[in-house]
Amino acid sequence: MSTEKDFLQWLTQKNKLYHRFNELANIFENFLTDYILVSKENADEISVRLEDMLGKCNIPNIYEKGQAVETYSMLHFLERYRRYQLVYLQLLENQLIPFATLIKHLDIGTGPAPSIFAFSDIIKFYKEFSQKEEPREFFEIEYLPDYVENSDSFRNWLHHFTEYANYKNYSGGWEVPYHHGTFRDFESLDFKKLNYNKALWQKERVYEAFGANPNYIILETSKEITVHGRNFISGQLLDKKKNGHRYDVISFSYFLTLLEQTKQFKKQIKGCAFALRNNGIIINIGSNNDDYFQIAKYIRRTIQRYKSVNKEFNVSCREVLNEIISYNTHDVFSKRIKQSYEFIINNLELLSEKQKIPQKIKKDFDKYINSGQEENIKDFRLQVFQKRITSTNNDQHTG
Ligand SMILES: C[S@@+](CC[C@H](N)C(=O)[O-])C[C@H]1O[C@@H](n2cnc3c(N)ncnc32)[C@H](O)[C@@H]1O
Repeated sequence: MSTEKDFLQWLTQKNKLYHRFNELANIFENFLTDYILVSKENADEISVRLEDMLGKCNIPNIYEKGQAVETYSMLHFLERYRRYQLVYLQLLENQLIPFATLIKHLDIGTGPAPSIFAFSDIIKFYKEFSQKEEPREFFEIEYLPDYVENSDSFRNWLHHFTEYANYKNYSGGWEVPYHHGTFRDFESLDFKKLNYNKALWQKERVYEAFGANPNYIILETSKEITVHGRNFISGQLLDKKKNGHRYDVISFSYFLTLLEQTKQFKKQIKGCAFALRNNGIIINIGSNNDDYFQIAKYIRRTIQRYKSVNKEFNVSCREVLNEIISYNTHDVFSKRIKQSYEFIINNLELLSEKQKIPQKIKKDFDKYINSGQEENIKDFRLQVFQKRITSTNNDQHTG
């Protein structure tokens, strides 16, 4: 049996994913009652935002409205985290996770980062499995996640929530960047340019650090740079493999949700194929509906057309999975999510004197919670691409 299959079996036997899921759900609820569900004003604003977050997630700047990010996270974070657990199980099953001593992950349109939280768990468990069950050469994996997110409110949410989760956990923290991700707008993300313009990129990171917290230094250069009269001096030398813009995993989760928007990102999507290392994967998840079927088709055409101009190597990026993943709406995970929704609604009602939550919103929310309950099933589409680099005389290149 392969290592991945052994690992999968171990994860299931020890019920690792549910324990971790429940731990994160508990922390999430405590965070809400400590910081978000604390005043009538917040509760009233959340009640209004519920409608936006149930159907208008694509509207520009929607996440900058008061309590929008908090409301989005209440509705979607745990469910997406569960979906990503299922995605990674599927990838393990198909031996598609590019295990190596260093795994770099870039999540595009990260929101509350369900994809990174769930991947961080897989790496944590894989290390545990390797060390305890059968020491293997790869148990010293270094996981380096990063993200692209243009909403300041989401960036701040991630900063705050991750710090809290990493303080309050009882079985180990999550490797999610809480000093803010490197990239803001996907539209202006050009990996080819970045590759040649490292100095500019470093400067951007200084600004990022400066914006987040003037005392926070996250430089990878040995040079001294001055921003707004302050000096930033690194403690670390530049490590090309760690800091270059090359990734083993790039994920899009509910980011490319409209065909027209996806077409506008054609160049950037191709850029992601360019930025992958050998054996690296692009993961894309979205709804199981006709619109998304068309989007997935467009993404496939775009990525598979990616070619590298290099006489020494054959480079391809092919779709290796395109599946509908289903899960039971009465399983323990779904029950825990439902429990969390009930917890939120109860707290909102307590704070906002019941009648303040408009009946329509309550009904929509109930519909959302219960959708799929009758059929016992919810599903979504998973699409995975893998990059392969081989030398033109057929020797494999390690990227
Ligand atoms: C529907 S949410 C998905 C969030 C998360 N991936 C999930 O699965 O729950 C879309 C996210 O993409 C971000 N976003 C939208 N347009 C963007 C852009 N051009 N560049 C970077 N992030 C963007 C939004 O701020 C939001 O966090």
